[in-house]
Amino acid sequence: MYVPWTVKYKPKTISEVVGNDDAKRKIIEWIKSWDRGVPSKRAVFIYGPPGVGKTVFIEALARDFGMELVESNASDYRVADAVKRFAGRASEYSTLFGKRRLILFDELDGITGTADKGGVRVITDIVKNTRCPIVLIANNAYDPRFSTLRKHCFLVEFKRLSKSLLIKHLRRICALEGIAAETEALRFIADRANGDVRSAVNDLQALAQGKKTLKYEDVSWLAYRDRKDVIFNVLRRIFYSRDANDAKMAIDMADVDPDMLFEWIYENLPYHIKNPKELASAMDSLSRADVYRSRVRSTQDWSLLRYVIDLMTAGISVSWSRRARGWVPFKFPERIRSLSGSKGERNLLSAIGMKIRRRCHVSANRAVKEIIPYLKVIFENNDEMASGLARWLDLDDEMIKYLRGDL
Ligand SMILES: Nc1ncnc2c1ncn2[C@@H]1O[C@H](COP(=O)(O)OP(=O)(O)O)[C@@H](O)[C@H]1O
Ligand SMILES: [Mg+2]
Repeated sequence: MYVPWTVKYKPKTISEVVGNDDAKRKIIEWIKSWDRGVPSKRAVFIYGPPGVGKTVFIEALARDFGMELVESNASDYRVADAVKRFAGRASEYSTLFGKRRLILFDELDGITGTADKGGVRVITDIVKNTRCPIVLIANNAYDPRFSTLRKHCFLVEFKRLSKSLLIKHLRRICALEGIAAETEALRFIADRANGDVRSAVNDLQALAQGKKTLKYEDVSWLAYRDRKDVIFNVLRRIFYSRDANDAKMAIDMADVDPDMLFEWIYENLPYHIKNPKELASAMDSLSRADVYRSRVRSTQDWSLLRYVIDLMTAGISVSWSRRARGWVPFKFPERIRSLSGSKGERNLLSAIGMKIRRRCHVSANRAVKEIIPYLKVIFENNDEMASGLARWLDLDDEMIKYLRGDL
């Protein structure tokens, strides 16, 4: 069964909630103050960005203090009457067994428009008169809608988690899952999450579940996914702009690596240009761009890059009528995904290294460093010698392709 790690590793006690120590301490003090009678602020208003543990902390707090948590659903806030009925009953009576109650109004941001003003007003009334502690949670407490309510609350901010705390948290999960993770890989995930624990944990699960190791290469391709929107805009402009010059300028819009852009265009072109003649002409332009691209690579003559770009942008733009039927989404290039995935270059290299080890009595590592570079030169230049070596080393098709630079 698929269990999200955010559920599997959800904090059960307040000590497991990472970060925001100050905020947590303030709330704990406030809850304890109820033992000495009703405090001046009967509600605490927690605010802060999503995924930092606001809800989870309150749930753990209720559990640790043996309180019954009474939660109201955001959709009920629309109806003032429902709020009144819910909280009125919950706040006026203690439970049957004398267990104290903690009332929670979560995700108050869900209240929208004038129709819900009644909801906020009722909550404000309840906060003023309650006999048991109330917790309010929203992303933004400073929304004008909450101005009156705010005056009656003890405001506590939950902040984004620091990168080092996030990394520590991710490392703990990896340890429990039996995954040896490179710090660089975890740092990369933490960077992207921008202090949001929920999204960091979700990313970690997507990238690492079922693996024994998590390397930087396993996660770094995500950077391209992040830049998807930027690349989509560039592609849209190259494919659909009205004149060739405009298509050419698309490349200046964002700083995309030409090799990367080539893959994106190559992968997406056939889905957009439906007319076979036009598609053939656009593909022809792209193939000529590829010829120049390999010439740049072999000669290191970067002045040729101009032609690569022209053929890749203007060349495609003039190849077709630019009238597409319907909306076609852009997709992520498969070739990049497969190279950067777990079966990436690294695995292939070490597999070839093993083959060499068997024949040449050197370690696979040394083979990768010292022998494969020479093999590459041979495979790229001398078919006859290459096929002999391939047989001798017992290389498979993928390995041969890789050594020839065709992968
Ligand atoms: N500070 C934290 N410590 C540990 N886990 C956290 C923390 N913040 C969030 N999480 C994880 O993310 C999930 C969502 O957290 P939640 O409390 O709902 O965030 P918020 O209410 O701030 O949007 C939790 O179930 C937990 O797995
Ligand atoms: Mg929440």
